[in-house]
Amino acid sequence: MTSLDKIIDIAQKSALEEIQKFDSPNITQFEIANEMGQKIANNLKADTQIVILGTILMDYKIGEAISQNRLKEHIKMSRDAAEELLKANNLPEDQINKVLNCIEGHHKTAQWKYPEAEICANADCYRFLTYRGIISFLVQTGKRGMGLDESIKYALSKVEEKWGILSLPICKQELEPNYIILKKLLEG
Ligand SMILES: [Fe+2]
Repeated sequence: MTSLDKIIDIAQKSALEEIQKFDSPNITQFEIANEMGQKIANNLKADTQIVILGTILMDYKIGEAISQNRLKEHIKMSRDAAEELLKANNLPEDQINKVLNCIEGHHKTAQWKYPEAEICANADCYRFLTYRGIISFLVQTGKRGMGLDESIKYALSKVEEKWGILSLPICKQELEPNYIILKKLLEG
């Protein structure tokens, strides 16, 4: 195992601990982004190790943020905690910067400076633009006690948000049929 593989392992364990504690992102959506990030990175010959660190850590602190009613701050909280984790495990600075850009740009609110950051943002969209992803999200909002109509409205807003972020032609092509069907389904 290379030192980078060890860091990926540590990041994965730490992210899973957060998920266990806060159930957010839900485990299905966590796995969807990790899997799709790797598929897209392989397809585009990008750095798969940066992408896996990006997809593991992009919502690293979203559970804590939600528990403190600070959802809007989850990107900054995840970025800062990831920086601390990666520095403590001696990831080289140029690689830290790439992973941090993946986190900062995963909602397209910061510029993608590396292809890996665009891949992470696109992988995140699969969490809401796939049937399994949306169903897992609705189960999760239900568990949190959100009412049905509110949950459907929330899911629809995530579908629209992610369709607006999706940028890679291969992903758009793959997800457009899902987008049309999910929109129809959620609009009722
Ligand atoms: Fe996020």
